[in-house]
Amino acid sequence: MSVVKINVLTVPADMREELERRFSNRAGMVESADGFEWFELLRPVEGTDQYLVYTRWRSEDDFQTWQQGQAFQRGHAQAGAAQGHGHGQGPAASGSQIWSFEVVQSASPKS
Ligand code: HEM
Repeated sequence: MSVVKINVLTVPADMREELERRFSNRAGMVESADGFEWFELLRPVEGTDQYLVYTRWRSEDDFQTWQQGQAFQRGHAQAGAAQGHGHGQGPAASGSQIWSFEVVQSASPKS
């Protein structure tokens, strides 16, 4: 059963552009992680000021392995203080929180 891990980033209005720029320059390593299935950066349009970093994984173990490994560290090189080892740029987000889900049902368009 796949799992969905969403990193919820609270981003002040004046940091949105910077956050999106960091993601445009992201390491692109997650694509090679074992068990990785999907990633989307979701920009809030109304109702919240929180960006969602949506990821889907084959299993909880696959997510944990990625999160504890070098690919995660390198994928967060710019994320700054939130990871405790930034490069002096500071975080674009003022807060973060992880949401975890199990995929119960899914659908895709008929081809
Ligand atoms: C602890 C707080 C976190 C903050 C503030 C944060 C912020 C960021 C930022 C700004 C980037 C853009 C690239 C960079 O900064 O170098 C990034 C990349 C990414 N983040 Fe996070 N992140 C955090 C934790 C997480 C967690 C727990 C997940 C799991 C869902 C996640 C998923 C991702 C993914 C998939 C990428 C792209 C990595 C790649 O391209 O290889 N992040 N994050």
